[in-house]
Amino acid sequence: MRSLAKAFALLTFALTLSSAPARAQSAGTAADPWWKHAVIYEIYPRSFQDTNGDGIGDINGITSRLDYLKGLGIDTIWLTPMYPSPQVDFGYDIADYTAIDSQYGTMKDLDRLFAEAKKRNIRILMDLVMNHTSDQHPWFKESRSSKTNPKRDWYIWRDGKVGPDGKLEPPNNWQSWFGHSAWTYDPATKQYYYHYFYVQQPDLNWRNPEVKKAMFDVVRFWLDKGAAGFRIDAVSRLFEDPNLHDDPYLPGYNAYGDRNIKHLYTDDLPEVHDVLRELRALVDSYPGHPVLISEADEPNIKELSKMYGAHNDEVQLPMDFQIADVNKLCAPCFRKQLEEVENNPAHGWPEYFFGNHDQDRSWDRYGDGVHNDQIAKLMAALLLTPRATPQMYYGEEIGMVTTPPKSIEDVKDPIGKIGWPKEKGRDGERTPMQWDSGKDAGFSTAAKTWLPIPPSYKERNVEVESKDPNSIYNFYKQLLALRKSNAALRDGDYVTLNPDDPNVLSFLRKTNGDAVIVALNMSAEEQTVSFDLKNAELENTSAVPLLESPEFHRAVYTLTDKGGFRKPVSLANIKIPPFGVFIAEVK
Ligand code: GLC
Repeated sequence: MRSLAKAFALLTFALTLSSAPARAQSAGTAADPWWKHAVIYEIYPRSFQDTNGDGIGDINGITSRLDYLKGLGIDTIWLTPMYPSPQVDFGYDIADYTAIDSQYGTMKDLDRLFAEAKKRNIRILMDLVMNHTSDQHPWFKESRSSKTNPKRDWYIWRDGKVGPDGKLEPPNNWQSWFGHSAWTYDPATKQYYYHYFYVQQPDLNWRNPEVKKAMFDVVRFWLDKGAAGFRIDAVSRLFEDPNLHDDPYLPGYNAYGDRNIKHLYTDDLPEVHDVLRELRALVDSYPGHPVLISEADEPNIKELSKMYGAHNDEVQLPMDFQIADVNKLCAPCFRKQLEEVENNPAHGWPEYFFGNHDQDRSWDRYGDGVHNDQIAKLMAALLLTPRATPQMYYGEEIGMVTTPPKSIEDVKDPIGKIGWPKEKGRDGERTPMQWDSGKDAGFSTAAKTWLPIPPSYKERNVEVESKDPNSIYNFYKQLLALRKSNAALRDGDYVTLNPDDPNVLSFLRKTNGDAVIVALNMSAEEQTVSFDLKNAELENTSAVPLLESPEFHRAVYTLTDKGGFRKPVSLANIKIPPFGVFIAEVK
């Protein structure tokens, strides 16, 4: 009987969705551009799909999976760097900004990817690494060749200073984000160059107008090719204090054994905003409302808000690391984050995410070790129901697990080599996509893939999960479809409900005519909630469940000769199971 009810539930859900009018994708208007309603999916190309059997993902692999992405409900992909690179930082060390690394394919392959994506109404965002290049970039090779080279000033070169013991020391105490001094001595010209990241990633000198011109030409190149915008890497680090003040020390030591430091003189300098304004003007000069997304690991919402620009003239979608890094299931904590965004007039359109290629997968970060799959669904709902553009990370839709290397010999990411064992690096969240239960999880045919296939692949993969109506994958798919077809979830305002509930995060999404309640039980116990919607100027006392996990209102699905329909449930005393999700339309 239960399974019959379930079948009807799925059937009615499918009917609701298939009767939704197909929306032709348009660029929208300046006031309501496409990216406000997009679902962004980050692809780490090395690990998505390998088609030539070398154990490394490639462009043709991405193209071959476009139908999968379309079917899942994705309309925008962000590609992390595939430009020619020595791959010290797996592509974030770029040696040529307007070409493709042969490991991933050719420019022709990329053109095909763009064309095939366009046919499916999928937009593509490129990664824009403006802060630094590879030390193998011709610009740096020239720069380091002599003090008088015309490109010398494209990077940050300074004399060292003589330390108390008479030895030459770096110009100041600035530290690399990836460990140790941010300065490396170059014997050829007897000066130090500055690198916020690895030694092999020298920082560009953004005080030199030629640098800006060269980088803006890169932006034009990709927009001309049809990129729908960019994710801008490490943008708050573009400028450093020209007077080289020492950064203040903080208590303790980091995973690399260095003294903790506050990056006061190298992060978030006001000059960053001058560049962002010009960059925005440049992308705005192109049709189709290209978007700028910035990596913005700002210390608080106030700083994050600055990324939008004083006149909304900088980045349209700064990634919100505040909400991404709550790192515990805590209804009041998430409520606080959402409200800070909603109540801050300086804050533009939000961009939320919980996983990316630099942090442990959300399945582990938010999982409690017992209910991780249910929690993954809860997190999916938290990502896809608030008023924001959501950004997913490949494999999150199947609950991929962080799989860190077991020994230092297996580590690929240099951070893991420098910081082992305290810092194991980022390999664990970059393992190959798990497509099926076959060889190499359907990712590759190679004897050895660049990172090992996690042992979880047999049961946790697209093929297996697509057949299981209760899988994380099918929950994502339903949520994504619902988000697209439901006006309140798509366009509605956000209204907090039950502000003092310590366990259940509840809110309303509301347009003029529609309202949807979202209630997320962030505790391991069943919770009883009641909703009074007067605060939201609604008199209603019942709602029709649209999607639940686990499904706890089975009885309300009723079969008629026209198929199934849902009955309203009272908004008093709703019992939400542990880590349960309740999404219902107010009627
Ligand atoms: C960004 C990237 C990260 C990279 C770093 C340096 O944080 O996301 O992967 O290592 O920039 O480019």
